[in-house]
Amino acid sequence: MKNQCKKPTGWLGRWMLRNMNSRHSKLTDWGLAHISAGVRDTILDVGCGGGRTVSKLAAMAPGGKVYGIDHSADSVATSRKTNAGLIDNGRVEIQQGSVSQLPFSDGMFDRVTAVETHFFWPNLPHDVGEVWRVLKPGGTAILIAEIYKGAPTAMSRLAEKYSHKSGMTLLTVDEHRQLLENARFSDVQVDVEASKGWICAMGKKP
Ligand SMILES: C[S@@+](CC[C@H](N)C(=O)[O-])C[C@H]1O[C@@H](n2cnc3c(N)ncnc32)[C@H](O)[C@@H]1O
Repeated sequence: MKNQCKKPTGWLGRWMLRNMNSRHSKLTDWGLAHISAGVRDTILDVGCGGGRTVSKLAAMAPGGKVYGIDHSADSVATSRKTNAGLIDNGRVEIQQGSVSQLPFSDGMFDRVTAVETHFFWPNLPHDVGEVWRVLKPGGTAILIAEIYKGAPTAMSRLAEKYSHKSGMTLLTVDEHRQLLENARFSDVQVDVEASKGWICAMGKKP
């Protein structure tokens, strides 16, 4: 099951992606309320999964363009299906690729978002550096998740207990702050909805 979240594959993966589109919707709305977007912004959603966040971002920047990237072919296919109309209108583009080697030029994006994915990334300091690279100066990145180390929820405690087996990297609130500061982000803020175990960590590229 954990592998299906890390890299959804096959019919079970596609079912989970549709499920995550609705299950992560409230968390995503809470997280995205921490950032604004300009009407014409260019935005990247990393680990776009079933593509619901991409749709929400397209609504936040109605004259802009939203890119989604995911290393799973089934996530890419599901995201494309979810956003078919926006893709036809040239407002959304979904690509297959890894956060560790983003196929975008330096300084391309006003905003980079990542929902329920950064704990799966293979090398967080390097991968957050990739996010920093593709941001424009003045651009903002936000990491959003429904678990973090030290959260007082059963799901977070369970994920923490088995992280050595799952390979998930769970960080505390302070470790999220350090991660972004070490990657040269400024104005770093970390907010939690502790009762739900939700966290969002954001920073600006100076
Ligand atoms: C739990 S799902 C979340 C999907 C979506 N963001 C959401 O909130 O519903 C995690 C997604 O991150 C993707 N992912 C995990 N590691 C990745 C990596 N290293 N590079 C790109 N995508 C990755 C997975 O394929 C999966 O689609």
